[in-house]
Amino acid sequence: MSYSTSEATSEATPAATSINTFPLAGRPVHRVGYGAMQLAGPGVFGPPKDRDAAIAILREAVASGANHIDTSDFYGPHITNQLIREALHPYADDLVIVTKVGAVRGEDGSWLPAQEPEDIKRAVYDNLRNLGLDVLDIVNLRSMGNIHTPAEGSIEKQVVALAELQREGLVRHIGLSNVTSAQITEAQSIAQIVCVQNHYNLVQREDDALVDELAGKGIAYVPFFPLGGFTPIQSSALSKIAQTLGATPMQVALAWLLHRAPNLLLIPGTSSLEHLRENMQVGQLRLPEAVCVELNAIGAVSAQQ
Ligand SMILES: NC(=O)c1ccc[n+]([C@@H]2O[C@H](COP(=O)([O-])OP(=O)(O)OC[C@H]3O[C@@H](n4cnc5c(N)ncnc54)[C@H](OP(=O)(O)O)[C@@H]3O)[C@@H](O)[C@H]2O)c1
Repeated sequence: MSYSTSEATSEATPAATSINTFPLAGRPVHRVGYGAMQLAGPGVFGPPKDRDAAIAILREAVASGANHIDTSDFYGPHITNQLIREALHPYADDLVIVTKVGAVRGEDGSWLPAQEPEDIKRAVYDNLRNLGLDVLDIVNLRSMGNIHTPAEGSIEKQVVALAELQREGLVRHIGLSNVTSAQITEAQSIAQIVCVQNHYNLVQREDDALVDELAGKGIAYVPFFPLGGFTPIQSSALSKIAQTLGATPMQVALAWLLHRAPNLLLIPGTSSLEHLRENMQVGQLRLPEAVCVELNAIGAVSAQQ
């Protein structure tokens, strides 16, 4: 990579990119983690094409500094968690594995809501078994109001179910996914919420206010689809900026997220070792303020379309 790093320049470096950890569930995690969803088969359903390659990616992610891994037992289903167990168990003390509950997979691979208290309990037991753990570090309640955008509505019974599992010692910390600010407030009246995982990236900016709100409260915001998910971000302006920085467009999109707010933790997903290596280096990518202004403009244009 030929781009400049914060060490290599005397110009002011944006604060967020020079801070490479953030406390998650009371433990400092590197802000560049790994999202394991892409390791299952096509459509996040069934086994990977190359199991050994999937294991190698997980091991390299951890070896290169990722100590925050995002997963769910509904990836595969079960398969992604089983891969994590095979690759990384016994887990390093500093590794934070975040899983999520609230859905199951249909026989055709469809994503079905599973939000009743007994569903939540079953999902926690599935995650414990397939990850080979006695207690889960963090469990996100994945709200299923809309598939990729939050929809208002009470999540009380689901959070109460998770809080009970927490009291039983099966869950250390609780997070939320695909939720609104009002749902976070409702959940906080029941249990401490340590992270929020919503759809957000350079061109998907509906959560801008929520990112700032959670940054003010010191709560981690973990964008899902940080690179655009199943249809990775494409922007000629982004490609041009990346070229001037000697980086790839995806690296710049991730670096922009790191720069966006200090509570923002990355979990880019990849099934490619080459992409993993690119992604793990983005903490070193320095974005001058003028570049950030240009990148912000890409999001603003997209938001108006
Ligand atoms: N809470 C939720 O509802 C929810 C929803 C979706 C995802 N998630 C979590 O969020 C994580 C991240 O989301 P995601 O994996 O769906 O999407 P993503 O990180 O936005 O993008 C993944 C896509 O980008 C490609 N990619 C990754 N690195 C790249 C690079 N350096 N250059 C070019 N292409 C690259 C991947 O293809 P290759 O495999 O070819 O690299 C894949 O197609 C998931 O793994 C999962 O843990 C949570």
